Amino acid sequence: MTAVHPAAVVVLAAGEGTRMRSATPKVLHTLAGRSMLGHAITAASALQPERLAVVVRHGRDQVEAHALELAPGVLIADQDDIPGTGRAVQCAMSSLDAAAAAAAAMAGEGGPARVFGPVVVMAGDVPMLDAGTLAELLDAHVSDRNAVTVLTTRVSDPTGYGRVLREPGTGDVARIVEHRDATEAERAVDEINSSVYVFDADVLRAGLARLGRDNAQGEVYLTDVIALARADGGAVRAVAVDDPMLVEGVNDRVALARLAAEMNRRMLVEWMLAGVTVADPATTWVDVDVELEPDVTLLPGTQLLGSTQVAAGAVVGPDTTLRDVVVEAGAQVVRSHGTGARIGAGAVVGPFSYLRPGTDLGADGKIGAYVETKAATIGAHSKVPHLSYVGDATIGEYSNVGAGTIFVNYDGVTKHHSTVGDHVRIGSDNALVAPVEIGDGAYTGAGSVIRRDVPPGALGLNTAPQRTIDGWVLRRRENSPSAQAARLALGEHADDPPALSPQAIAELRSHSASGDPQAATTDEGQPRA
Ligand code: UD1
Ligand code: CA
Repeated sequence: MTAVHPAAVVVLAAGEGTRMRSATPKVLHTLAGRSMLGHAITAASALQPERLAVVVRHGRDQVEAHALELAPGVLIADQDDIPGTGRAVQCAMSSLDAAAAAAAAMAGEGGPARVFGPVVVMAGDVPMLDAGTLAELLDAHVSDRNAVTVLTTRVSDPTGYGRVLREPGTGDVARIVEHRDATEAERAVDEINSSVYVFDADVLRAGLARLGRDNAQGEVYLTDVIALARADGGAVRAVAVDDPMLVEGVNDRVALARLAAEMNRRMLVEWMLAGVTVADPATTWVDVDVELEPDVTLLPGTQLLGSTQVAAGAVVGPDTTLRDVVVEAGAQVVRSHGTGARIGAGAVVGPFSYLRPGTDLGADGKIGAYVETKAATIGAHSKVPHLSYVGDATIGEYSNVGAGTIFVNYDGVTKHHSTVGDHVRIGSDNALVAPVEIGDGAYTGAGSVIRRDVPPGALGLNTAPQRTIDGWVLRRRENSPSAQAARLALGEHADDPPALSPQAIAELRSHSASGDPQAATTDEGQPRA
């Protein structure tokens, strides 16, 4: 990175962005998990400018709030009714000079009460512009002692862009002409203005003071400062980038998608070169703040979003979305969706698991198929293998939660927490009604509704006694395939009349008015325990 730090960076973000057709201001649309303004501010901040200004107008409150969140010290400059990039920079320079004057007064040093030195101006809608390119531009500006340095590129279709017109002999920039103001000959030039510049502050201030609106769009053009600086004898030079995508502006959602895909593709190339296996780059999406260690494997259809981190040897995918999830070494996450969770080393998740915020799965643990978790700490080696909901719970180590178990955390008004100890065996199809505590080494019976604490080493169960009514199907569903199957199983000829045990006949006699098996009663014994 450059040794030179600019006096200021100005990010232009006041434009309307009509072609986005959006209620959201253009610069707040995102690529790779970061807004366009966020990309601009990230690149700008890497230069460590003395001051950073963002010019706002359309959707100003939203843009201001977002800018302040990204860079708390940012100066917000309001653009007034007068349109154009030149007006935007006039407004920014007034704010910057006022801030510099206030700072000088505060310090009481009698130093310059205005900004001096290099001022970088960039658009807020050029998301692929990176800090390295900005630093090269700044270095060229300083080492060549330029008055203005313009970042340019050559494109196959320059329609709509400002054209960079160079001096025949020196190759210096003579002026920039906007497409709508250009002659046929000028329109044939394929070198375009990227809207990224470094200006000497005094040159910029002098130029801005003389800008008019005498052009096809009736706007104050920043590009007119170029010819004015030149007329004053300053050196105006261009730095051309070979890769037009670095300076491509987003005007509609088609460009947004194209640049998002390109940004993603480039990041995946970097990750692959850093040792990450990406089975299918076309269907793998990774946000800018994601961190991956070497020997991570990403299978097709994987999206790693937000601040997700994946450690060495972990395998994620296929078809998995993780936002702000930490996946520790050697873990596996298959066909699952997670947000705000931690997956411990060697743990297994999925397929079809849903990890909601506050899920913390210990090392070598398991969250299996069709399991939803929320605010749940599941200790090392513990397993929730099938069809369960674990919400507001702490589970110790080496415990197992049987299939179809629900942690009943909500009483209709408040959420309650449950605790399960170490080496516990929760039977299948349990409802653990919170708040409830299952002690270390305790068991619960299948199908139990656990409403009271189970002490360490105890068995908790409260299943209703089973009733068996012999011959019920043979009588009540006489001609059904079930009845026929039963007759065969009972060793009878399918056409024989149903044979019933004396007990069943007694049952049916006493309850023959009801066709509902649930209405019948038996005098069963206690459950096996
Ligand atoms: C501008 C340049 C053009 C260059 C092109 C590159 C001028 C006159 N023209 O044209 O030479 O090739 O960018 O994309 O500068 N903005 C404001 N306030 C305004 C108008 C714009 O802050 O009143 C901001 C926009 O939010 C945007 C940037 O300035 O971030 C560029 O504005 P845009 O309208 O896209 O300028 P172009 O007409 O494309
Ligand atoms: Ca533009």
